Amino acid sequence: AFPSRAIGLIKLRHVALSRAADSFVKNIISLATGSTPVGMYKEIVAKHKKSEVDFKGVTTFNLDEYYPIKNNDNQSYIYFMKENLFNHINIDMKKVNIPNGEAADPLIECAEYEKKIKAAGGIGLQVLGIGQNGHIGFNEPCDVFEAQTHYVTLDESTINANSRFFESKEQVPKHALSMGIKTIMMAKKILLLVTGEVKAEILKKTITGDITPSVPASVLQLHQDVIVVADEAAARFLV
Ligand code: F6R
Repeated sequence: AFPSRAIGLIKLRHVALSRAADSFVKNIISLATGSTPVGMYKEIVAKHKKSEVDFKGVTTFNLDEYYPIKNNDNQSYIYFMKENLFNHINIDMKKVNIPNGEAADPLIECAEYEKKIKAAGGIGLQVLGIGQNGHIGFNEPCDVFEAQTHYVTLDESTINANSRFFESKEQVPKHALSMGIKTIMMAKKILLLVTGEVKAEILKKTITGDITPSVPASVLQLHQDVIVVADEAAARFLV
């Protein structure tokens, strides 16, 4: 299990999210997309409107991006981040980093992205969601933990889960660029957000199961400073 100091299993309440939002701006932060963090981004935007958070000087990275995808495609993660967060806060877009889904060579893009994270001094706060198969970023279940930013073939289950955002399953990109497990684990602090009944089983495995690349999120048991924010539905096998 997570070291007791490191884990707080908290109901998904605004107060918890507000606290997360406060620490959010103090570091170099790495962000997730998907349904789960949308509420947190809304909360951050609301706090920003009340002048309670300031993004001047903040650098962001994102966990992942589909490949290939046009930056202005409304399914791209850069588009998602602009719609949900960046267009509504005072972030300097020159300090926003997301793997480039338009890069000519995905492998060179991965290496460049990793260099940028290192040059920035690493991640302060890493925000994570979790896939139903235990993926974090797009580190899919596999035989070994992939260390650094890499080119990924998406799992059938991930393509199925993400098809809800597309008109048809065929339109979901089959590949992505994703930060690796080592890069994620190097973050000083990790905030894992988990909501909904469909995540209950994988959350239990993540926290109480074996540490194995077949459940990529289980590696978080080895991190010294993880906060898990889960709603009651996701936490129902834990309480
Ligand atoms: C996306 C990401 C993914 C999602 C995961 C859960 O940037 O990192 O690992 O966090 O697929 O997605 P939702 O929140 O849509 O269930």
